[in-house]
Amino acid sequence: MKAIQFARFGGAEVLEYVDIDRPVPKADQILIEVSASAVNFPDIRERSGIYQRAETHVGGVMLPHVTGLQAVGRVVQTGTDADTSLLGCKVVALLPEKGGYAQYVAAPEALAVVLPEEAEDNLIASLPGQGVTAYLALNASTQIKPGETVLVQGAAGGVGSIAVQIAKLLGAGLVIGTASTPEKRAFARNLGADLAVDYEQPDWTDSVLAATNGRGVDIILESIGGDIFEQNFDCLSTFGRYIVFGSTRGPGKPFEPRRLMPRSQTMTGLYMPVYYQKPELVREALTFLVRHVLDGSLKAPMSAVMPMSETARAHRMLEERQVAGVIVLDPAR
Ligand SMILES: NC(=O)c1ccc[n+]([C@@H]2O[C@H](COP(=O)([O-])OP(=O)(O)OC[C@H]3O[C@@H](n4cnc5c(N)ncnc54)[C@H](OP(=O)(O)O)[C@@H]3O)[C@@H](O)[C@H]2O)c1
Repeated sequence: MKAIQFARFGGAEVLEYVDIDRPVPKADQILIEVSASAVNFPDIRERSGIYQRAETHVGGVMLPHVTGLQAVGRVVQTGTDADTSLLGCKVVALLPEKGGYAQYVAAPEALAVVLPEEAEDNLIASLPGQGVTAYLALNASTQIKPGETVLVQGAAGGVGSIAVQIAKLLGAGLVIGTASTPEKRAFARNLGADLAVDYEQPDWTDSVLAATNGRGVDIILESIGGDIFEQNFDCLSTFGRYIVFGSTRGPGKPFEPRRLMPRSQTMTGLYMPVYYQKPELVREALTFLVRHVLDGSLKAPMSAVMPMSETARAHRMLEERQVAGVIVLDPAR
């Protein structure tokens, strides 16, 4: 089968379009013939070798490696303990062992959800990693309550664009997104953000305070890092919840936990793969996402469909911040 593999860590150039053997499903797995997969920012961090470092070791990588943490496709084989009635079904799955950048991938049955035939494969493929992260941030890391105000950092990104919409679906009051360009801010507003702020401006937190009558937001979904990590505190309310799940610009300065005391704030870390230990919650999230895309209340954030053979270009586009939403990969090309 065709796959995108890397045999060393580095820039997008290490991604190679190769022929490798099909995976063999383990007892609790299903083998999926992939019709669509997608690129996540963590794929780039994996490719760069960041996850190999001691301080960011969140599941090291063995080389050579096929990354890709999500896929849509049809079940063509089941492991000895997996449900044979899944054979032939269209599914969406998360992939703890990765491998989504390929024409076939093995996935735990427990992390797959059967799709109705009318579901559009490319649209659904833009949801899993990004959408489950966003769902867990608002339903597990914290429980958003109706009317609460939310700041979504990087609101035009994969996770951010779904988080804006999930916040609204769950009854949020004001939802504020941040993004770097007018086009991306318009994109975030089109998804339902009430306000989109340019966080490249040094005084961006003033806009958030102004929109919340000086109070700050109840919840911040933070994935940017760098200076933004600290600046967030300027617009987090008393009792505010700070959910940290990424550091696209690097981790920033060390954090002093007593910083949370004066205003009784809470900080919670989120690493989506940890929730593979709670497959029922992952499936709940996937089911929520698919249901809302099918009933039209959630816009799948697919920005483009690219041939899988051009995955290196897709990675570069993400790294150069040229993407609003999620790039979907077509494994047939
Ligand atoms: N903890 C977890 O389990 C988990 C799961 C999934 C993702 N993540 C993390 O969540 C973040 C978002 O992931 P994603 O897949 O949604 O990524 P994405 O689609 O690339 O979105 C990231 C957004 O970050 C913004 N950004 C700000 N500074 C950037 C920089 N220096 N380089 C690149 N982008 C920058 C970009 O928006 P602007 O250009 O508008 O600034 C972009 O839209 C990443 O940090 C990722 O590692 C964590």
